[in-house]
Amino acid sequence: MMSIGIHDLSLATTHRVLDLDTLAEANGVDPAKYHIGLGQDRMSIPAADEDIVTMGAQAALPLLERHGAEGIRTILFATESGVDQSKSAGLFLHELLELPRTMRVVEFKQACYSATAALQSALGIVARNPRERVLVIASDVARYELDSSGEPTQGAGAAAMLVSADPALLAIEPISGVVSRDVDDFWRPNDSTTAVVDGRLSVTAYMDAMTSAWDDFAAAGGVGAEEIDRFCFHQPFTKLARKALARLSQHTGVELPDTLQEASFAYNRELGNSYTASLYAGLAALLDHDDDLAGRRIGLFSYGSGAVGEFFTGIVQPGYRQLRRAESIRDQLAGRVPLTLEEYRALHSAAHPSDVDWETPRVTEGPFRFAGIRDRARRYEATQTAPAGPTQE
Ligand code: COA
Repeated sequence: MMSIGIHDLSLATTHRVLDLDTLAEANGVDPAKYHIGLGQDRMSIPAADEDIVTMGAQAALPLLERHGAEGIRTILFATESGVDQSKSAGLFLHELLELPRTMRVVEFKQACYSATAALQSALGIVARNPRERVLVIASDVARYELDSSGEPTQGAGAAAMLVSADPALLAIEPISGVVSRDVDDFWRPNDSTTAVVDGRLSVTAYMDAMTSAWDDFAAAGGVGAEEIDRFCFHQPFTKLARKALARLSQHTGVELPDTLQEASFAYNRELGNSYTASLYAGLAALLDHDDDLAGRRIGLFSYGSGAVGEFFTGIVQPGYRQLRRAESIRDQLAGRVPLTLEEYRALHSAAHPSDVDWETPRVTEGPFRFAGIRDRARRYEATQTAPAGPTQE
């Protein structure tokens, strides 16, 4: 059977960062609560001229530079921090990357889960026509209210994936376990820039979705837990993935030590929660830091509050180490400019009216920027780095 999956994967984040030590000091909290209790060290914060579009385009750019745009006829943009109620954020990205017009571009939404729905849809498109490739973008800015318990679990990031036949990174296996249930653990009303969250309920809903998705995976003929070599779970904060693997171990009766997922935490500890991108930032970290993955099976669990869960597996391809981007991700993370508490709070509280023209200050060092609002529409532009354009592989 033809294999289909992730041919390449790239990450991007913002150019500003808040160290959780700064937040702990301001909140009078022991920093160990954040570093050990939540498993988080820093969180990316968008500058005034950054958002899900600029991060998504920045994540996609290296994929196009490496593989060209040939065969890409679909962009699926997954986000829960959409910038417009009607227009897909993917259309801004499509323009910034100077991609051909012969494409369908659409946005997917279901909290942190929707990138997995986009990935599954991409697999279906490629199964129908193996000459096509699909660009899947997951990009989000996680925002909770200032001084809320969710505040240390904010963050921002984007993952871009090229989905194709005969993938070079991860062949996705056909069996998935899925679950959906209407639950008010987390949502964002149309008139709110921050999420409404019942943190404790979101943790129990995540665990319930994980075991239910696992049971459906097993019922559908999925492999046993002992046949899975590594795990990569959605990481709103990395400690939750530790708890989830321990729960799966208890649920299946198979010993599943944390060493099977440890490498997947490297980027998310630094990014904070990147909602839709979080699972795929975990996957990128695993592929970048574990040298012994060729031919091994990874079990992935995707969760989106509200709530939808999916458990699925993929086989790492032999040449995966040649596609790594660890150095550029390390540089991006290290190159973020630390915010003072006052700067962070000012960015968090900034108003973003859509009914008057305004221009953003030039802050980002990334290749694309959000320039502001003109005639009620969002305006984006390239900065110093020219887009790759549709080169061939
Ligand atoms: N040193 C080490 N660990 C410490 C500590 C210290 N000084 N102080 C507290 N901790 C630990 C706690 O024991 C707890 O660990 P445990 O869950 O293993 O027992 C952890 O730090 C968090 O403490 P808790 O009191 O539960 O935190 P909180 O109530 O302030 O908030 C969330 C935690 C997750 C509820 C909150 O961050 C939140 O609402 N986040 C947004 C929602 C979310 O991300 N949900 C995930 C599913 S989508």
